Amino acid sequence: MSQSLQLYINNQTPNVFFKGEGKKHGRSNQMKLLVKEKPKATMMSQHAAVPTEIPPHWYNIIADLPIKPPPPLHPKTFQPLHPQDLSHLFPDELIKQETTNERFILIPDEVVDIYRLWRPTPLLRAKRLEKLLDTPARIYYKYEGVSPAGSHKPNTAVPQVWYNAQQGVKNIVTETGAGQWGSSLAFATSLFGLNCEVWQVRASYDQKPYRKLMMQTWGATVHPSPSDITESGRRILEMDPSSPGSLGIAISEAVEVAANNEDTKYCLGSVLNHVLLHQTVIGEECIQQMEALGETPDVIIGCTGGGSNFAGLCFPFIREKLKGKINPVIRAVEPTACPSLTRGVYAYDYGDTAQLTPLMKMHTLGHDFIPDPIHSGGLRYHGMAPLISHIYELGFMEAIAIPQIECFQGAIQFARSEGLIPAPEPTHAIAAAIREALHCKESGESKVILMAMCGHGHFDLPAYEKYLQGAMVDLSFSEDKIQASLANVPHMS
Ligand SMILES: Cc1ncc(COP(=O)(O)O)c(C=O)c1O
Repeated sequence: MSQSLQLYINNQTPNVFFKGEGKKHGRSNQMKLLVKEKPKATMMSQHAAVPTEIPPHWYNIIADLPIKPPPPLHPKTFQPLHPQDLSHLFPDELIKQETTNERFILIPDEVVDIYRLWRPTPLLRAKRLEKLLDTPARIYYKYEGVSPAGSHKPNTAVPQVWYNAQQGVKNIVTETGAGQWGSSLAFATSLFGLNCEVWQVRASYDQKPYRKLMMQTWGATVHPSPSDITESGRRILEMDPSSPGSLGIAISEAVEVAANNEDTKYCLGSVLNHVLLHQTVIGEECIQQMEALGETPDVIIGCTGGGSNFAGLCFPFIREKLKGKINPVIRAVEPTACPSLTRGVYAYDYGDTAQLTPLMKMHTLGHDFIPDPIHSGGLRYHGMAPLISHIYELGFMEAIAIPQIECFQGAIQFARSEGLIPAPEPTHAIAAAIREALHCKESGESKVILMAMCGHGHFDLPAYEKYLQGAMVDLSFSEDKIQASLANVPHMS
């Protein structure tokens, strides 16, 4: 057994011992027990670090921004949204989290208790990849694929469902692209005994039977989107009966059902402030782990679809950067087929195709942009999280776009050196980290590169099959297509 694997197992064991203690004794007793039994004994080696504690809070970056982000607008009146405008979709506590200026939000004990199933997640050093690339850089990755659903998405699915359950909600609806979010929500609803209905983008519903089966195993009902169940879906099917669907269309369907049913609320897997907030548990843990290893990142890299895994890892580090403690380059990586940050406009736009959601100021390719069917289904979203868009505009981060063949080349190198088979989405972060490591080889710099490895690709093997057969293509970027959809972005005076 490798040294890093041993450390990982050794350090997880005490957490299993304390599972369930939180409810009996309350948070403070539980933390005391942890401290007594294992006094900050973060175990580490050159290869890996796993902290013994899950952070007590999520981090809200809005509290530390020098300029606050622009407010969302009502989709009909174009006036700033009131919290009650969201109450047909979300429970009160999540609406509060969406708009709060508080810096830290305490993670409820019940949520921490479930997080213990897979948190803290490992931070690993990719020593064998470094050797393969012959680079002086040190590459670290924070691995979220150890969750029951196989990605970072349960970090927010669990609290979202918990807050809904607290308010007595019985039915949850959502959309899913690649199936990662839908399966995470199905997992969370099964734990709290809520019903879950998922609209899965048609292309992935057909291509990814195993994700659908995971959702069904956890008790969810899954519809292909566009469907004939909703007005939004029927409208799309009338125009194109064989529409492959898009996240924008699937969101419209789920939001429509929540808006029309008193007993039903909607959950979103990315983009919104409260979703990004919940994901910061990743970065808070990682700061502890990097400190324990005595390392400071020079470059932090994550893939961006709606932006939640990237924000989750990076926002706590941006806090430290704003304090002047560290100065890493923060780099988002998106697919060239759906480049909202690098090729979109920064404007108010709808979050969905049918224009049912509030208008959000974000980098967007236009709400009716339907990206080409790249294998990273989770990165096929027309917009970017408003908070990330705002931080990008403030100049605290940068963004690049990478085509999918280069991403899968990197994924194969990663799998053959580190062993993990990444989901198609984080292959973008891997490809960018490899670019950076090869620059270091040329310059002789021994930078510390930290990347977000947000999920495994065990259900995405058809994408690997395409690549290995030499059948994968880089879908060409169509300027005309983007210009056509940008023309439909609402014009604000
Ligand atoms: C594994 C994985 N990574 C990344 C993403 C992109 O979402 P986000 O940018 O919100 O992290 C998804 C979305 O489904 C995903 O499943």
